[in-house]
Amino acid sequence: MAKEFLTDVKTLRVRARKHIEKGAVTEGYRADRDTVIRILNEALATEIVCVLRYKRHYFMASGINATSVAQEFLQHANEEQGHADQIAARIVQLGGEPNFSPEGLLTRSHAEYVEGEDLVDMIKEDLVAERIAIDSYGEMIRYLGNDDPTSRRMLEGILAMEEEHAEDLATLLATMGEK
Ligand SMILES: [Fe+2]
Ligand SMILES: [Fe+2]
Repeated sequence: MAKEFLTDVKTLRVRARKHIEKGAVTEGYRADRDTVIRILNEALATEIVCVLRYKRHYFMASGINATSVAQEFLQHANEEQGHADQIAARIVQLGGEPNFSPEGLLTRSHAEYVEGEDLVDMIKEDLVAERIAIDSYGEMIRYLGNDDPTSRRMLEGILAMEEEHAEDLATLLATMGEK
């Protein structure tokens, strides 16, 4: 027997006309919107802290003439900025407000801001931060499941890039040798 598939067209049309001020958020949205906005704001804070840490590392590495490592830090900083922008846009689409306040930023962020004493330290700290991001994005993705596929897919894309970042850093660390 065929499985019951879609809501009938008439009901869909009637539902879509209600609460049009909510834009992309329809009655069919199945996730807990407040919770999703809260965890996306934590992800946003994490990305912002990562941008700041990578920028610091970029300028410090430039100062000690470690050009190729500095370029890697800069590339990561720019990619984390791209993630922050994607997340902020999704929060707005869900009817929330992206939290860019410096106050409490580190508390909202999952990753830490560690300056690092030298190049190897910086790479290690960045790798730790990426590994934290990988685990927390994994949890968010599992939490969202099929309740908010758009946010889930966005986070899956970001997660894939954090995994590349971690791999890049592990390779850098290996080529530089353990301290
Ligand atoms: Fe990121
Ligand atoms: Fe990253």
